[in-house]
Amino acid sequence: MGQKVLFFGDVGIDDTIALLFAYFSKEIEVIGIVACYGNVSKKQTTRNVRYLLKEIGRTDIPVMGGAEKPMTGEVPTYYPNVHGPEGLGPITPPPNEAEPLENFFDVISLIEEYGEDLVIVNVGRMTSLATLFLLYPDTMKMIKCFYIMGGAFNVPGNVTPSAEANFYADPVAANIVMKYARNVFLFPLNVTQQAIVTPGMVNYIEAKSKPPFLKPLLDYYYEEFYKKMVPDIEGSPVHDALTLMSVEKNSICTFYRTPVAVEITGEARGLSIGDFRKSFEQEKFDNRPTHRVAIEMNYFRFYKLFMETMTGDTF
Ligand code: RIB
Ligand code: CA
Repeated sequence: MGQKVLFFGDVGIDDTIALLFAYFSKEIEVIGIVACYGNVSKKQTTRNVRYLLKEIGRTDIPVMGGAEKPMTGEVPTYYPNVHGPEGLGPITPPPNEAEPLENFFDVISLIEEYGEDLVIVNVGRMTSLATLFLLYPDTMKMIKCFYIMGGAFNVPGNVTPSAEANFYADPVAANIVMKYARNVFLFPLNVTQQAIVTPGMVNYIEAKSKPPFLKPLLDYYYEEFYKKMVPDIEGSPVHDALTLMSVEKNSICTFYRTPVAVEITGEARGLSIGDFRKSFEQEKFDNRPTHRVAIEMNYFRFYKLFMETMTGDTF
């Protein structure tokens, strides 16, 4: 099988598109999903993950409940205006009386089982992942690498003028992950907002392979949110799918190596700070590890991989 991935997400629209990509990809094997608060509540993301897995016939994939609030202790803000009332655009998952899962530490046995072969993909708030670095620092050293969606470097944010949603909602956790994770590939808004799936692409995929969820979710994302917010945008950015797709094809983006810190309080809360000066001395930057931050995206490579994987056609 393909690259083993443990997926942490706040399963709303673009997280679902990422999981659908993984479902169709022959190069990626999701071995577990951690459902966290974020776009909507933990209860909703847990329900969404279970519903998705049922619809695609993959209830064998273990689901773990992640954090339901940030390390700041705040009550989370949800985004039904972006992702729909349940996080799945116009879709209402069937009622499910099951309570949110409290089995988070099952991830440890998965990490121990897959160890050095395991890639963690985190495309939501970083609270659950940061918890692992605080409690299991040695176990976390086993992981091969981390693919993370978060931050906005030297460009405007999407929840505040300076901050991206995953970093903003729990800047404490994001800062912990940036400080303690090794082998990080970080996908900030700089590149993810260019990973646009147009209505034409959606309609082609629908006509060809009719994947569950894809058309209603992306039509909703575009018509109800992006077109209203950014009138000249040509489709919906699939932030989380780009991050996961890069596990399969790392050359979609080019990377710049820098340590990363996250502003925790004040007007610039959630601001991602890298060192983009021509020369710098790393020891002056809190002795943080150097991460690979995506700074450019090759749209054709993104388009080709997305369309080929979703349809089986050659582009
Ligand atoms: O800022 C975009 C990110 O915030 C995406 O991961 C989206 O799903 C939300 O989590
Ligand atoms: Ca997400």
